[in-house]
Amino acid sequence: MKILVTGGLGFIGSHTVVELQNQGFDVIIIDDLSNSSLEVLDGIFRITGKTPAFEKLDLREKKAVQDFFKRHPDVSGVIHFAASKAVGESVENPLLYYENNICTLVYLLQELQKKPKANLIFSSSCTVYGQAEKMPITEEAPVQQAMSPYGNTKQIGEEIISDVVNVTNINAILLRYFNPIGAHPSAEIGELPIGIPQNLVPFITQTGIGLRKELSVFGDDYPTADGTCIRDYIHVVDLAKAHVVALQRLMEKRNTAKVETFNVGTGTGSSVLEVIQAFEKVSGQKLPYKIVSRRSGDITEAYANTDKANAVLGWKSQSTLEEALASAWKWEQKIRN
Ligand code: WQD
Repeated sequence: MKILVTGGLGFIGSHTVVELQNQGFDVIIIDDLSNSSLEVLDGIFRITGKTPAFEKLDLREKKAVQDFFKRHPDVSGVIHFAASKAVGESVENPLLYYENNICTLVYLLQELQKKPKANLIFSSSCTVYGQAEKMPITEEAPVQQAMSPYGNTKQIGEEIISDVVNVTNINAILLRYFNPIGAHPSAEIGELPIGIPQNLVPFITQTGIGLRKELSVFGDDYPTADGTCIRDYIHVVDLAKAHVVALQRLMEKRNTAKVETFNVGTGTGSSVLEVIQAFEKVSGQKLPYKIVSRRSGDITEAYANTDKANAVLGWKSQSTLEEALASAWKWEQKIRN
């Protein structure tokens, strides 16, 4: 049985392809290369010894999606990463996000519903919770008014899937990621942000390597212990492994509902200043930074209650914040040398 990984050359996608191959799955990747490169295929090969099948394809092309599934009738499971994911860009260009994140999901589901049975793992995000009332955040926390079109596409995606599974033979698991960071310990694959990184950890490692002058900390006047925002930073390899166990759950028919939702985090919150301190410890160097004003749209605090993923999925994150940062630093040093 073949597993389709859309966006499989991206940051989380590529790490998930490695873990799928490690578990003996036959993988085919679709990627439009808008935010990734073919060299990632070589990196995957260097880790697993197997080059996954790959097709460059833009999922916005409905006919191309139909033709793909005609050519690959043996695809029985899909892990769907392909989407645009920059919060700020989504505010400036909402239609790009609604087309690229929603239309593509519809075309994918239209093909999956033709199969006698199909399993879908959907890449969602803790952003659907907005600023949750209670920490740590459980899956029962209410989905709140999205703070950005990007966040809205994740909420809409979840709703579309919930509607579709009820009238088709598709089973789905929604994985709500917290903050993925780090890189494969081999440093053969990792995060490849294009341009100025929007996310904290790649900006930190690029500052550490000297590509950026200093990190701007977006506000230290939040109602937290040290005034900076708190997030749940999870090693990307731990996150990748969660996708494999979720897929296996569906393939072995252990799911107890047509759609199940899991928070995927470490269960621990870390402030921006704590991340800086941890990076300085693992890199052995001071990180230049300055405190600036808040970034609009940021929430104060978000970290996961992982009881359900631990108990039901049988999955738990393994890496510490320092280990994740050390892997990110190792990767940054490798790609810059
Ligand atoms: C983390 C913290 C910033 C950069 C977003 C998306 C989420 C997911 C992960 C896709 C915040 C602070 C950051 C910087 C800073 N994306 N920061 N200086 O915003 O929690 O989540 O990325 O799935 O859906 O919403 O992650 O890394 O951008 O920010 O001070 O240069 O670091 O204010 O508190 P975020 P982030």
